[in-house]
Amino acid sequence: MGMVPVCTADEIQLASAVRVIVEGQPIALVRDSEGRIFAIGDTCTHGEVSLSEGFVDDDTIECWAHGSRFDLRNGKALNLPAYEPVPVFKIEISDGRVLVDPTPLYDYETEGVLTNG
Ligand code: FES
Repeated sequence: MGMVPVCTADEIQLASAVRVIVEGQPIALVRDSEGRIFAIGDTCTHGEVSLSEGFVDDDTIECWAHGSRFDLRNGKALNLPAYEPVPVFKIEISDGRVLVDPTPLYDYETEGVLTNG
C-alpha cells in the first residue's frame, strides 16, 4: 500500500506518543527524548494495553500496566513480563507530515531505526 499520511509531526510532543489506526492496525507514533519519531505497534505484547498511554524515556516506552519497556528502535521487549517484540514500522516526514508504511519491518536489528531527517 505504501506510505500513509497519519498526522503532523507537531502533533507528537517531545517524549510522548500518539495512537493512530492504519489499515486497522493500532500504531503508536512516539517522539523520544531527543525529538526523533518512531512508529511501533501500539498494543503491548503482554496484554491489551495501549503503549501510547505509557511513559517515554530516552528511546524506550514503558507500558503503564506492568512496567515492561520496549525499545523504540527495534520493538524489543527490554524487561518482563512482556518478552515478545512489538512490530516496528517505517516512517517518513514530508512537509511536516508523518507518513507510515503499515507493513511491519521485521528485521529488528537493522531496519528498526527510524529517523525524521
Ligand atoms: S500489559 Fe503491558 S506489561 Fe502487562
